[in-house]
Amino acid sequence: MSHIMVNNSWMQYPVGYIIQGGVYVPDDWLKIIFSPVVWVRFPHMLLAAYVTGAFCVAATGAWYTLRRMCPAEARIMLRMGLLLAAILVPVQLLFGHLVGDYVHRYQPIKFATIEARWHDEQPASEVLLAWPDAAHEKNDYAISVPVLGSLIGSMTLDSKEVGLTDFPRSERPPIVIPFFAFRVMVGCGLIMLLVAWGGTLLSLKERLLQRRALLWTVFLCFPLPFIATLTGWFTAEVGRQPWTVYGLLRTADALTPFLTPRAAAGSLLVFCATYVFIFAFGTFYIYRLLKGGPAEDLLHTPPAALPNRPLSVATDLSSTVK
Ligand code: HEM
Repeated sequence: MSHIMVNNSWMQYPVGYIIQGGVYVPDDWLKIIFSPVVWVRFPHMLLAAYVTGAFCVAATGAWYTLRRMCPAEARIMLRMGLLLAAILVPVQLLFGHLVGDYVHRYQPIKFATIEARWHDEQPASEVLLAWPDAAHEKNDYAISVPVLGSLIGSMTLDSKEVGLTDFPRSERPPIVIPFFAFRVMVGCGLIMLLVAWGGTLLSLKERLLQRRALLWTVFLCFPLPFIATLTGWFTAEVGRQPWTVYGLLRTADALTPFLTPRAAAGSLLVFCATYVFIFAFGTFYIYRLLKGGPAEDLLHTPPAALPNRPLSVATDLSSTVK
């Protein structure tokens, strides 16, 4: 994962390179690896993976509890998954803010796109929801909060925030995908925070296991971190357009001259088919694992099954403890 984040962060914010014969060549690896962008994006991605794991464990615990399977294991899974998520989700939101800071500093066009800000504003409002109309450079049905845009962008109440019309149309990314993808990611993060904190609080008070509606909520929330991760990548990558390497190499120029449209369509089709197969098989396999419950030899054995004698007695207990 780290090399993908270093590579991709270089594409977002190219540093430590020289141009030799029209080719970008790495010149300073330390600069590339320790670029300020890597060190906020890498933790953001890593935390996304851990949060996903935590939600999957909690959802499995909720599912077992709902189906009255392996109660001891289910309780531990539910508690530990929710507690880990309760700790990690706020840290993730903090890193999300830091990632937003880097976009604000190094990719102002992407930032204005995510914010659907068409004109310079001082102080800037924050568009919570709208339908961005790129043709007329305006937002329809906008719900905005005054001043919040300056607070989020620059941590002040009166900063000037730049709008998309400051940049030529040929430099702007398509707006609809980054705008909505960003809101879906943040929305998933906020729902996960609510569920993780609420669920942890109730489980500490021993009041979660009896509430079926809440158990269903925890179970049904397991896709949220997956959705947040995907929409995060949509924000980052579509928001970088029209560049493959920001400011250096346009996507239109990054096309290899040997790739015909037919070959590109063919390889895309093969990728899609492979992933559909892997995901379908994976989903089916995980469903079967869930249905079967934990393997017998992993199940918790109540202490009553242990022999009633001091442990100093030289007996091999391993045959009695499953
Ligand atoms: C307040 C909440 C959040 C904010 C402000 C936020 C901010 C951002 C921003 C601005 C980007 C684009 C970065 C770029 O263009 O390079 C991004 C990307 C991403 N986000 Fe978030 N995020 C939040 C929550 C989450 C959550 C909850 C997850 C997953 C559990 C997540 C996963 C990702 C991933 C995987 C990427 C793509 C990799 C990257 O660019 O770092 N984000 N996030």
